[in-house]
Amino acid sequence: MAQHPAEPFRIKVVEPIHLISPEARKEALKNAGYNLFFLRAEDVYIDLMTDSGTGAMSQEQWAGIMRGDESYAGARSYYRLADAMKAIFGFEHFVPTHQGRGAENILTSLLVQPGNRIPSNMHFDTTEGNIRSRKGIPENLVIDEGLDPTSHHPFKGNMDLEKLTRFIDKTGIDNIPFGCITITNNAGGGQPVSLENIRKVSEIYRRYRIPFFIDACRFAENGFFIKKREEACKNKTIPEIVHEIFSLADGAWMSAKKDALVNIGGFLAVRDADLHQRICNELILREGFPTYGGLAGRDLEALAIGLWEGLDEAYLSYRLGQTAFLGDSLLEVGIPIIEPPGGHAIYLDARRLLPHIPQGEFPGQALSTELYQEGGIRSVEIGSVMFAHPDPQTGKMVYPRLELVRLAIPRRVYTASHFEYVIETIKTVATHAGSLKGYRLTYAPELMRHFTARFEPVQ
Ligand code: F0G
Repeated sequence: MAQHPAEPFRIKVVEPIHLISPEARKEALKNAGYNLFFLRAEDVYIDLMTDSGTGAMSQEQWAGIMRGDESYAGARSYYRLADAMKAIFGFEHFVPTHQGRGAENILTSLLVQPGNRIPSNMHFDTTEGNIRSRKGIPENLVIDEGLDPTSHHPFKGNMDLEKLTRFIDKTGIDNIPFGCITITNNAGGGQPVSLENIRKVSEIYRRYRIPFFIDACRFAENGFFIKKREEACKNKTIPEIVHEIFSLADGAWMSAKKDALVNIGGFLAVRDADLHQRICNELILREGFPTYGGLAGRDLEALAIGLWEGLDEAYLSYRLGQTAFLGDSLLEVGIPIIEPPGGHAIYLDARRLLPHIPQGEFPGQALSTELYQEGGIRSVEIGSVMFAHPDPQTGKMVYPRLELVRLAIPRRVYTASHFEYVIETIKTVATHAGSLKGYRLTYAPELMRHFTARFEPVQ
């Protein structure tokens, strides 16, 4: 099996987990309407549903929790975070939000008008949802290699610069309130974007005077990939690379629940002082006073510490090594995944594993429910359940290119033996993949339907 660096920490607190019986798992699935979001977490053995808010905090972060200043306005913990924001990202103006979508809500409510189009390499579900809820239209312009699961392009999250220029010329700048890029590209396999690509994207947006925002959840992992794969950056430190990335943007938002190693939190940062003022006014309505946003003082403190810990090279090399270990081990036994392994997750290619299930019967859903049935593993479908939507003009269903099941890796939580178990379980599922059946929706809301949809198996 592939090797990876050992954990640069030892374990001081443990949380017991259990594998319930196959019959109990069958019952749990049925009761959940075959939607893994409705499972009780206690009925899950290895939880790879998300890397969001599921990481283990360090002793420094827990100590910071005790030092948190809960003053309503002007808390010490806010200034600690402001220092980190300036030193790491170079942003003077920011507001804390309760999580990433809180920032997206504020940004889209201020900037998106009905009919506006917002380009990105690939928007993630909450970004898409926030844009669509304001009657805007998200546009994904990732390079073609980013949609080919077997391509080994080193930066499959890159924006296609020609597609971007063509898109802007066709749409017209008055219809594009801002442009963005997601690092790493979560919806496309946790794949990184190169510094060179970010620089060129920034040049294009600047040329057209379109404000450029970075969706920064996994900025540290992206920075590590840049150091490893981009020749010009191999002698730079991760903080240097990160600083350079954000110097190219007019703003950024982050779900801190990822690379900032906290269980809750986020921010929205901008360079423009006037926009910052409008953001503060909106924040006060929806999240809280600008020095705490949607968070407690203790959360701000843990976040300020976590932002730095997430940049530690020993940690990043263990972290991405763990993802590579899972991905490479699955490839060795012939399981189709998005190659090469990305940052925070391995994405099983449900289309190749279950070619007999049509997209309208949700191959990813069939695979993810079976991983739970077989081994108590919770994953998340990133395919037609999440992204298929009716065309606003014709009403015809538009299906995504990729049908994926994501195995997201919580930070500093599971060990190699947990992953060996996961690999064995997936191997077993692959042996009977041909007998799996698809699903039919019995309930689905209009937006963000994967969270609350219910299903029944197709007979
Ligand atoms: N942008 C990206 C790229 C994300 O991956 C997420 C969340 C968000 C924005 C929204 O942040 O959850 O803090 O409101 N992704 C999680 C996931 C939920 O499982 O990938 P949030």
